[in-house]
Formats: sequence, C-alpha cells, structure tokens
Amino acid sequence: MSDFIPPYPKRHTKEINPFQALYYAQQDLLSIWDEESFEVEFMHRKILKQNIFIANSPDLVRYIFVEAKENYERKSPQMRRALEPLLGDGLFISDGDTWASRRKIQMPLFDSAHIKMFSRVMTSTIHEMAEEWAKVPEGGEVNVHTEMGKLTAEIIARTLFGEKLGSENSAAVVDAFAAYQSVVKQMALSNFLGLPDWWPNVNAKVGKARKAAKTIHNAVDAIIAKAEEGGHDGTLVAELLKANQTESGIDTMTKEQIRNELIVLFMAGHETTANVLAWTWYLISQAPEVEKKLHAELDEVLQGRTPEFADVDKLKYTRAILDETMRLYPPVPILSREALEGDTIRGKKVPPGSIMLIVPWLIQRHKKYWDKPDHFIPERFMPDAPKPIKFTYIPFSAGPRVCLAKNFGIIESVLSIAILAQKFRLSLDENQKVEHECRLTLRPKGRLPMKIQNRN
Ligand code: HEM
Repeated sequence: MSDFIPPYPKRHTKEINPFQALYYAQQDLLSIWDEESFEVEFMHRKILKQNIFIANSPDLVRYIFVEAKENYERKSPQMRRALEPLLGDGLFISDGDTWASRRKIQMPLFDSAHIKMFSRVMTSTIHEMAEEWAKVPEGGEVNVHTEMGKLTAEIIARTLFGEKLGSENSAAVVDAFAAYQSVVKQMALSNFLGLPDWWPNVNAKVGKARKAAKTIHNAVDAIIAKAEEGGHDGTLVAELLKANQTESGIDTMTKEQIRNELIVLFMAGHETTANVLAWTWYLISQAPEVEKKLHAELDEVLQGRTPEFADVDKLKYTRAILDETMRLYPPVPILSREALEGDTIRGKKVPPGSIMLIVPWLIQRHKKYWDKPDHFIPERFMPDAPKPIKFTYIPFSAGPRVCLAKNFGIIESVLSIAILAQKFRLSLDENQKVEHECRLTLRPKGRLPMKIQNRN
C-alpha cells in the first residue's frame, strides 16, 4: 500500500484573525485553514460584517444539501454575479422554479444510454491524443495539465456540437473562456467570502466580463444555428433541442436560454475533469506500487484490447485511483451557498444572507472520518474496503444540486487514464516540485511537464 503523502499547503497552528484570513485568501483559498479545521464539525467566522459558516460533518452536510435544501439551494450572490454575464439564468447559478425546470429537461440527457453513446466520442478523442503522444521522441516531455485541458475541452465540444462543429470551434470557445476567466479570476475570493461591492475590482470587472462573455455567446449562437439545420443527431445540442419541444409544440426554453445551458455544460464540463486527470498522472508517478497495480489491472482486464465503455466497471483499481485523487484534490474544493432565511444550527443563530460553506477540501481530509487522511491510498476505494461515511466524500457535491454529469465525468476520466496508461508512462523530474493553484477550481500550478515513455 502506498505511503506517499502528497504535498498540501501549510496549516496554521492556531486560528488566524479575519485580516490574516483575507490576506491569505487573496493568495490561495487553501492556505487559510488551521490544523483544527480538519477536526471540528462547525465553524463560524465574521469577515467584514459578513457571517460565514462552515458545515464540516456528515450530518451537517446532509442537513444543508438535503434536509434544508430549500434554504440553502442558492449560490452566493457574489458567485452569481461573477458568472451571470456568461451564464445568464443557466443551471449552474439559477435556483427555484427556473433551476428545477432546467434540471428536469437535462437530466435524461445524462442517463446511461446517452453516456454510452457519448463514450464513443470520448474514446476516439483520447485515441487521437495517444497518437499525438506516440510521436513524441522517447524520453521527451508532454505538458500534462495543458494536454488534459485540450483533451477534455475537445471531448465536451464534440459531445455538445458533434465531431466536425465541435473540433472546428473548440479552440475558439476555449480561448474565449480563458479570456473570461482571467477577467473574473480576481473575483474568486469575493465569490466565496461574500465581500461587499466596494471591494477592489468587483464592479469594474463585471463590465469587462460582459464584453468577454459576448464573444462566447456569439460563437455558441452560430453553432446552434448550424445545429438547427440538422444532420447533428446524437449530439447534446440536438438532444437538448429535442428535449425542449413539448407535445403542444411550444418550446420550453428560448434560444437564449438554450445557449445559456450549453455554455454551462461547456464550462462545467472541461476544467474539472482536466484538473482531476492532471492530478491523477502526478499521483501515479509518485507512487510506484500504485502504478504497478494499475498496469497489472489494465493488462489483465484488457489483454491488450482497447478499453471501451463496457470495461469501465471492470477497471476497479483504475476507478479507485480516480476516487482517491478526487478525495485529496477535489476539483471544486469549496462549495458556497447563501442562507435565504434565518436558521439555528448547533445552537448557533445563522442570520439570513449568511454564507454557508461546505468544503470538500476539509471534510475529505477530516481526521475523525478518514484513516491517514493525507495519504494517497487508492485501496480505500476498492469494493472490498469499508465504504466512506456518507456525506464525507463529496467531490461532485450532494443532494438535488449534485453534479448533473457526474457519470459523464467518471467514465471520461477512467477511459482517459486506461487508454493512455495502457500505452504510456509519465514521470516527473526528481527535482521538480508540484504546487497547487486554487481559484474556483483546484489544479496543479503551471503546465505540469512530465517525461513520457512508451510502455511497449
Ligand atoms: C470529474 C469531473 C467533475 C467534477 C469533480 C464535477 C463537480 C461538480 C460539482 C462539485 C458541482 C456542484 C457545484 C456547486 O454546488 O457549487 C457540479 C455541478 C455541475 N456540473 Fe459537474 N463536475 C465534473 C464534471 C462535469 C461534466 C463533465 C459536466 C458536463 C458535461 C458537468 C456539469 C455540471 C453542471 C451542469 C452542474 C450544475 C448542476 C446544478 O446546479 O444543478 N460536470 N459539478
């Protein structure tokens, strides 16, 4: 079993004051926690008049996401404001009836029959990447984080818009997203902490964000117009247009609303998966016995055959590596909600408008619920190991707002690891340190150059 402890930001020995918290949060949202945050169940902080609560035990996570879901279904106002220019009323930031009706229309598009259909796009796109990697001279390098970003953007673009439209447009849409993100990245802090409008950058950035969003809107509108001409069966855009038609012939969503949903899917659908995959390659490279077991599983289950959808269930150790990676490095490390009405939790008053944080980064490394919480031990997710306590493992969130495409993300990730690890080994230079970067998502910092070797 691996005894590798992957790096994590230094934890303070005692609780820091609100000004220190602000200072640290500006640099990195994972550097604000003290050792005790990984042991306690409920926390309250007050920063610049904003009440912030942190629910950090399985019963409280269940309470927020399931039992009291109506009171905590709304994303923080700052998060909504940061993403509204891009996503409009799209699923990720809507709530109430709008959210419920959009979720209902889209749920069937991610059932197992659809995912099986989409898995063909996944495997062919991953194979194209494998062909590119095969051209790298022996001992050469690939930038693993960049490559995983390209791979997952290409997969979601082709799934949404089809082979041709997807690959023709993915680069342009990804570039426009990067521009948008660079405008709003400074807003990450205010998103989570609920800082007031006068906090530097918040309002000025919204104007710039609207301009960057327009580029994306135009690109996606043009793609929808082409999709409506027909000939794009089996794509998510065609399925969504179909699902939108009611029996009476009246569309439920307007064109603009459909565009919003497609942008949500594009946004939510590539960066998270790219981050998970980049972390996975890093962790495998640092734990030789894990790598050995992975190769043994791939060789035994596949017997040299190319992995496909039906194999995913059989690749149990590959899946366990993925699950353990998402425990240690949850792609969305902090989930933030706004309390609509006042509440009392553990005897403490939660005023309306408070920010409620559920922090996968904390609860997935909590000392009470996990043995060796900072170690990389994929075996803990094998079918014969005891199941983690419910609501302590939440990389996809939980409750009605759980990731819409959780299974899409899992199948895509397992297939990517299996197809690429069947052919290649990736290793890190001994002196190379890997650090993290945490904005809205948690990723390895930089491009993550790794040496590539052919396994055959
Ligand atoms: C390993 C990959 C992924 C991870 C870890 C992940 C994680 C998450 C998390 C934590 C949330 C909840 C965010 C919050 O409550 O603030 C979420 C929501 C969402 N995700 Fe994913 N996601 C992944 C892949 C995907 C993919 C591939 C798609 C689309 C194809 C997608 C679409 C969505 C959508 C639409 C929502 C909003 C759901 C709602 O509010 O009802 N995700 N995801």
